[in-house]
Amino acid sequence: MRILSGIQPSGFLHLGNFFGMLQRALRWQQKGETFLFIADFHALTTVGDPEALRRNVREAALAFLACGLDPKRTVFFRQSAVPEVLELTWLLSTVTPFGLLERCHSYKDKLAKGIAPTHALFAYPVLMAADILLYRADVVPVGIDQKQHLEVTRDLAAKFNQAFEPVFVVPREDIEENVATIPGIDGQKMSKSYGNTLELFGDREEFRRRVMAIRTDSTPIEEPKPIAGSVLVALYRLVSEPQELEEFIASMRRGGVGYGTLKKELLSKLERFLAPFRERYEELRGKSGLVDEILDEGARTARAAAAPTLDAARRAVGLV
Ligand code: TYM
Repeated sequence: MRILSGIQPSGFLHLGNFFGMLQRALRWQQKGETFLFIADFHALTTVGDPEALRRNVREAALAFLACGLDPKRTVFFRQSAVPEVLELTWLLSTVTPFGLLERCHSYKDKLAKGIAPTHALFAYPVLMAADILLYRADVVPVGIDQKQHLEVTRDLAAKFNQAFEPVFVVPREDIEENVATIPGIDGQKMSKSYGNTLELFGDREEFRRRVMAIRTDSTPIEEPKPIAGSVLVALYRLVSEPQELEEFIASMRRGGVGYGTLKKELLSKLERFLAPFRERYEELRGKSGLVDEILDEGARTARAAAAPTLDAARRAVGLV
């Protein structure tokens, strides 16, 4: 079984990326053959500054390794180190209905945010389909925001297989309901573009400030606090033991504890959870040569895995 997922290098990794995708992808490391990559071609649709892109790619690589990616078990690479993916994007484009891409929420959301509607932004899901199909992935662990892109991928694989020959494996997404959408500090989906993230490896003081700024209601200290829809509970659940969670919820239900105290309690659990990853991150930071070697080695393996699929697709359409 082959597992594959990617992340756009758009700055520091946040808790949404970690729980929605990375942690689950890394669990698969034990069970199957895992491919993880840094989607730098995709990032070009929104990051216009070459220096920032270089920094972000490096940051993403460090973060994955610090979170437990084992390069002996996982093929870890930069998307752009396997240019075959662009050729496959073109082949898939020929069976991609325009209307399918027009319906994609993430495209519409980006336009609404004022991002210029370039061809690359529009074609983003076709490149993502190529990422997945090129490596014949069976399972793609993602957060719920990527569900529609997986549907497009399946659709294009089936269309191509039917129009030509059955070249592609039709993949399934792996979305886990209770971590499908991690909320940010304002209660919306945690996302870099909403400015509501809690970053794993960013500035510690800023992390603390943001936890203390988590949106809550105005229930007075002495009264019981609502549990349903509480961002504090949603985040606490991710980083605590069942017994601790029970006590946290019980103390909210009882009343008599203010939100400030509850946030400090959440902060201490978050920091406890992140401590080993942060330690590893600091160790790796000084080893840029090692990170480059891992990515280069990963790219070699990924290219070797990509070649037969691209070759089959070329043959199927009549290019060979
Ligand atoms: P990206 O970089 O936006 O996010 C990386 C992964 O993190 C998940 N995620 C979340 N999960 C739960 N709650 C959140 N608040 C949250 N925020 C982010 C995302 O669902 C994703 O799984 N297009 C992709 C990158 C990509 C890719 C691929 C993924 C390119 N090619 C092929 C899988 C397969 C993206 O922009 O993810």
